[in-house]
Amino acid sequence: MEKIKHIAIIMDGNGRWAKRQLLPRTFGHKKGVEKVREIAIYANDLGIECLTLYAFSTENWRRPAEEVNYLMSLPKIFFSSYMKEIMANNIKIQMIGSLEGVPAEARKIFTDAIEESKNNTGMILNFAMNYGGRAEIVKAAQQYAIDYSNGSAGPLDEELFASYLMTKDLPEVDLLIRTSHELRLSNFLLYQLAYSEMVFTDTLWPDFTTDDLDDCIDQFYHRGRRFGGLNETENT
Ligand code: IPE
Ligand code: IPE
Ligand code: MG
Repeated sequence: MEKIKHIAIIMDGNGRWAKRQLLPRTFGHKKGVEKVREIAIYANDLGIECLTLYAFSTENWRRPAEEVNYLMSLPKIFFSSYMKEIMANNIKIQMIGSLEGVPAEARKIFTDAIEESKNNTGMILNFAMNYGGRAEIVKAAQQYAIDYSNGSAGPLDEELFASYLMTKDLPEVDLLIRTSHELRLSNFLLYQLAYSEMVFTDTLWPDFTTDDLDDCIDQFYHRGRRFGGLNETENT
């Protein structure tokens, strides 16, 4: 089996984690940010090439303004606490989604972190921020239509289409993990997950540990990935 390169995580369950301890939902998000640090450092140590984390969906704007505001303050909390460590670990920050509509302060913090870490050669820590899978596909289709009509793009095939997606420079997603027992994709990486292995765990994101990540990776290596073909042993 090929080595795992790209893991994507739907970090879910912060609110329920807080509720269980009779705390406001924001406490769950705060704890979730600490987990991002722990899991990112560990994944980098494991030699994972890219870790994509769903931080905020295009649908999350529907939450109460107070919670949205708090979620928008998380980039500042994360990068002001951990940017030094990210640099020391040679981790490269990237982003998919859109900074349009994101408050100016959070936008600047993201763009600064991306700029500061752009020459790092370790794991790509890719945040899906204000990200929606359908919006990404529609945007790709719109841009292709423009390029085709002005002659700068030829006939469309899968490879060409993938080059219009925000993940164009990233390896294929090998493994998708969703925490907190929700069994859906919630508009995450709809095109990219076509052949990813998926692990859904009951653990809430603030409780997710490096051992849990090991367990998910272990499950990945025990799956028979066929991509529509047959395993070697099935060839006779
Ligand atoms: C995930 O936790 C964080 C974001 C969606 C930003 P939730 O806030 O969705 O937590 P639950 O699902 O309500 O427990
Ligand atoms: C998905 O979680 C989005 C992120 C983790 C950022 P949600 O909690 O928003 O998803 P739903 O509402 O349960 O589908
Ligand atoms: Mg949720």
